[in-house]
Amino acid sequence: MPFARVNGNMLFYREVGEGPLALFVHGFPLDHSLWLDQLKGLAHVRRCVAVDLRGFGKSDPIVDRVLTMEMLADDLAGVIDALGAEKADVIALSMGGYVARALFELRPSLVRSLTLVNTRASADSAKARAGRDALAERLLGQGGSAITCDLISGLLSRKPSRRSQARVRSMIEGTRYETFIAALEGMKERQDRTSLLSRIDVPTLVIGGEEDAIIPEDEIRAMAKLVPGARTAVLSDAGHLAPIEQPDQFNQALIELFEGRKVVWWR
Ligand code: MLT
Repeated sequence: MPFARVNGNMLFYREVGEGPLALFVHGFPLDHSLWLDQLKGLAHVRRCVAVDLRGFGKSDPIVDRVLTMEMLADDLAGVIDALGAEKADVIALSMGGYVARALFELRPSLVRSLTLVNTRASADSAKARAGRDALAERLLGQGGSAITCDLISGLLSRKPSRRSQARVRSMIEGTRYETFIAALEGMKERQDRTSLLSRIDVPTLVIGGEEDAIIPEDEIRAMAKLVPGARTAVLSDAGHLAPIEQPDQFNQALIELFEGRKVVWWR
């Protein structure tokens, strides 16, 4: 099985296809399998690599107290190097988007294009930080099964398919508790990178879900407006996990980005 040794950790990745590297970065508390439809649908245009971030999925368990976005971004830079690539098209969802923005800030030369999916540039509000503490307490006090249903319904659209629910449940249940806690700390501490948006000078695609309960459509469109020349696609019948709920539209938007064609406005 493919692993890259980066910053002292073995990081798992799944790879298909040939051509320029496209690196897929999952959100929280998920893993590389978020992107299986993309690996299947885009292997003819890209060397697609979906990575398990430090501590997640099949990557090594961690002892870090906090997974900072900068630390995870440095890991991604290490993965791109380990794959022998000079640049990557970076496609990143939610927490993955926080990491991708940090990567662009720290190592912009590694990013050929940026696809920001169901994500925001701002830092956590005081309320959001308190919510993360409450979630961590519930997880440790009551165990994962107590919070999994709430998490799944927050991540998917109002009428999710069984396939989507099953895939999300598998990812959440596969996330180790220490990773869960350290990632929550990292997201709590993360920097506001709104001011970075106007400095993004690579082709950028912003994707949202019309039924995203975590990042509302208005916020997605407002963020996209701050990135010079960004394309936007807001997908219907999709919540916070557009790549799982609307894989065909999602893949089409990516192909149009890669080919330099204009992404249609989905509504
Ligand atoms: C994610 O999907 O990565 C998380 O919802 C992000 C967050 O909690 O801020």
